[in-house]
Amino acid sequence: MSKTATLEIDGKKHEFPLIVGTENEVAIDIKTLRAVTGGVTTIDPGYKNTGACESAITFLNGEEGILRYRGYSIEELAEKADFLEVAYLLIFGELPTQEQLDKFNADIKEQSVVDDDIKKIIDAFPKSAHPMGVLSSLTSALTAFNPSSVNVDSEEEMYKTVCKIMGKFPVLVAWTMRKKNGLPLNYGDSSLGYVENILKMMFSKPNEDYKQNEILVNALDKLLILHADHEQNCSTSTVRIVGSAHTGLFASISSGISALWGPLHGGANQAVLEMLEAIKEDGGDTKKFMAKAKDKEDPFRLMGFGHRVYKNFDPRAKIIKVAADEVLADLGVEDPVLDIAKGLASEALSDEYFVKRKLYPNVDFYSGIIYRSMGIPVEMFTVMFALGRLPGWIAQWKEMRARKEPIGRPRQIYIGENLRDFKTIEKR
Ligand code: CMC
Repeated sequence: MSKTATLEIDGKKHEFPLIVGTENEVAIDIKTLRAVTGGVTTIDPGYKNTGACESAITFLNGEEGILRYRGYSIEELAEKADFLEVAYLLIFGELPTQEQLDKFNADIKEQSVVDDDIKKIIDAFPKSAHPMGVLSSLTSALTAFNPSSVNVDSEEEMYKTVCKIMGKFPVLVAWTMRKKNGLPLNYGDSSLGYVENILKMMFSKPNEDYKQNEILVNALDKLLILHADHEQNCSTSTVRIVGSAHTGLFASISSGISALWGPLHGGANQAVLEMLEAIKEDGGDTKKFMAKAKDKEDPFRLMGFGHRVYKNFDPRAKIIKVAADEVLADLGVEDPVLDIAKGLASEALSDEYFVKRKLYPNVDFYSGIIYRSMGIPVEMFTVMFALGRLPGWIAQWKEMRARKEPIGRPRQIYIGENLRDFKTIEKR
């Protein structure tokens, strides 16, 4: 393959180097475009054709349904690793030794106490507040309680900051849910594993012992692993771009949470369940809603179907479908909403519109189903996504700072009015 790409504008040729990634992805390096062409820029709404960075964290190939963290396949990680190992892998680049993992676990626990004053902030939110708004605010508030900015060139300081956010974030998640459910706020149990502790913090009742269910622990562990990173998606790009202004890690992650909230991104898992409920309320006619999804005059979309990059199948959905079946069988769940979900999935998989556009159930289609059967309120689903995505956001922020990336500042093509004279108010 040639090493350059040639661009011709007004008969003048400009050469740009090609960059080839370790998986042979090719990019045209246009860093000098504006300088050599006298200000010509590119336009790419939604960044469908734009690489924002070079990254060594996650590889995904949407056509072939491949997802790998630091070179390890998502299938193998979901089967053989636990969430904390995967978090370490994403953030620090290699799988931990037992000693490193034990230390990471202990250091996270050490940092997992949240300032008690945070409870006052939680109390000030109305019970009706959306948990994603609460979580984003609380994560941002962590900055106020931990004001010293991290020296990103110091491995020790970075490590401590990583442990802080990994330790405190699950507490904020659990408290957000407990506030919603009217339960007293607790600090969990540091003798438990990371995921077991999350479940206990979320579900324990003040008047009885909490019993762990291994199938639920395993399903949540898998869900968190599958959500842990997904390269330059909307929330991760947000975290990187906010951090590129040298904004702190907690505040950058708070912005990522806001981005994740949207129904076209992480909010899809909530939107899936709301859609299934709406279909049930309407009498359960899945065909009617399939027709609505296909009607170009109707804004309705089948939530949980389709993906910006997976145009074949979502490898995470394949893994999580198995976990969903296990959880449903173990809990003996019988739920008309889940029957509607199954019906929709099988109809879509054989419908010409969906097959032609390669629209398959994505990870959020199944994650919502598991969360519902676990007893997690629908509004908390995207919060659970954020819990899983945390290591990815940290890893991407850390990489962006370590690579000394410039501040993110896209260009535009102005299409507004040309210079005109100001009219005083009485002449308008
Ligand atoms: N239902 C019906 N039609 C759809 C859907 C859907 N869910 N998704 C895409 N289409 C159609 C779309 O109308 C278009 O049709 P046409 O070519 O005739 O104009 C075609 O498929 C391509 O769609 P697109 O909007 O160009 O695709 P995109 O890559 O811009 O959007 C998406 C990807 C995920 C935003 C979209 O598929 C969608 O809105 N899905 C529902 C929301 C959802 O489940 N999101 C979660 C994504 S997974 C979590 C994450 O990683 O963030």
